[in-house]
Amino acid sequence: MAEKSYAKGLEGVIAGESKICKVDGENGRLYYYGYRIADLVEKASFEEVTYLLLYGKLPTSRELSEFTARMRKNRELKPPILNIIKEFPRSSHPMELLQTIVNFLSGYIDHKIEHSPTCNCRQTLHQIAQLPAVIAAFHRFRNGLNYISPRDDLSHGANFLWQLKGTEPDSEDGEIMDKCLTLHAEHSFNASTFTARVVASTLSTCYCSISAAIGSLFGSLHGGANEKVITMVEDIDNVENAAPWIDAALAKKQKIMGMGHRVYKAKDPRAVIMERFLQTLSSKYNDNSKLVVLEEIEKVFRERMEEKGKPIYPNVDFFSGAVYSLLGIPSSLFTPIFAMARASGWLAHILEQRVDNRLFRPKALYTGEVDRPWPAESID
Ligand SMILES: CC(C)(COP(=O)(O)OP(=O)(O)OC[C@H]1O[C@@H](n2cnc3c(N)ncnc32)[C@H](O)[C@@H]1OP(=O)(O)O)[C@@H](O)C(=O)NCCC(=O)NCCS
Repeated sequence: MAEKSYAKGLEGVIAGESKICKVDGENGRLYYYGYRIADLVEKASFEEVTYLLLYGKLPTSRELSEFTARMRKNRELKPPILNIIKEFPRSSHPMELLQTIVNFLSGYIDHKIEHSPTCNCRQTLHQIAQLPAVIAAFHRFRNGLNYISPRDDLSHGANFLWQLKGTEPDSEDGEIMDKCLTLHAEHSFNASTFTARVVASTLSTCYCSISAAIGSLFGSLHGGANEKVITMVEDIDNVENAAPWIDAALAKKQKIMGMGHRVYKAKDPRAVIMERFLQTLSSKYNDNSKLVVLEEIEKVFRERMEEKGKPIYPNVDFFSGAVYSLLGIPSSLFTPIFAMARASGWLAHILEQRVDNRLFRPKALYTGEVDRPWPAESID
């Protein structure tokens, strides 16, 4: 019997088993290996969260200090990689660079590629440790600045700010940056993670899987939304313009970036924490211009959607760009920051996929024709 229906966008389809992350969309809760996101953000460094994702357990203090040292030791980029970054077209988006460079990292590094759950990526950690340096280097080169070497006395987040700006962030900024990475580290079978698992299921390498995932994250329905949110805020400019702007956008059937989620039917718990960071930084830097516009957008948008009987809430991307702006980061780097954080989750999923692998190969509901007659004469 012919197949008649399918789940568009695989909505609601369970595509595999995983112990890594639970997204409780109904109640707005998120867990990495069973630990609540609020606890992870409050109590763990991004490095500890990465350990948890890659090993499935919290580290002992000795394991954590060894793992942290290993990640920090691997931050530095080799000269050939820096040359490639220097030569990369400056008008390209940093996500395009990032996607390209991941496979160069594989080529220039003493890396034993194994298509197994014990692949030595967990030892080298390059795709996680080196992405901040890649992003910072590209930003600096295309602005005519020199490369800043990483420091091993700073957290992953604080070191990124150091390599980007060449000044050491104060402890609060460094901590907020690191915690933002934890918020973005993992989110179950979203488009980019699923992409990584699909590529891994063919027995491809970690590097190829992560490079494909970066391409998937770039889109504005996924990680690219954070950059678009800031464009919207700048366009709206002040609180009074928010309601007419949203009404005009909705009339044109435009999506409001940073709002809505396939799984969350409540406010994204990451957005709740991100909003708190934004409040902290807005008062610290005496600049609440983005915060007030975002709060007004949220209020107006939610009212409009509730009138239509469709409650829709902010997702993680809604506040993150404003947080990064206050940390002095340009908007073209917002999505790359998402990628450098999510690399931990991607690698965890690639390794998990290999434990009990089965090639992903769904079917299509064919709606085309068959047995078409070949034209007797050439077509002009
Ligand atoms: C994330 C997203 C793709 C999830 O979409 P989804 O699960 O496919 O949900 P749908 O697009 O089917 O949304 C259901 C309804 O709500 C509306 N809706 C959802 N998100 C919306 C948004 N951000 N702005 C305006 N309307 C939205 C849809 O238009 C749809 O209305 P309809 O039933 O009249 O067609 C979607 O919410 C979106 O595009 N958000 C903006 C991009 C974004 O922030 N992405 C980052 C996600 S972490």
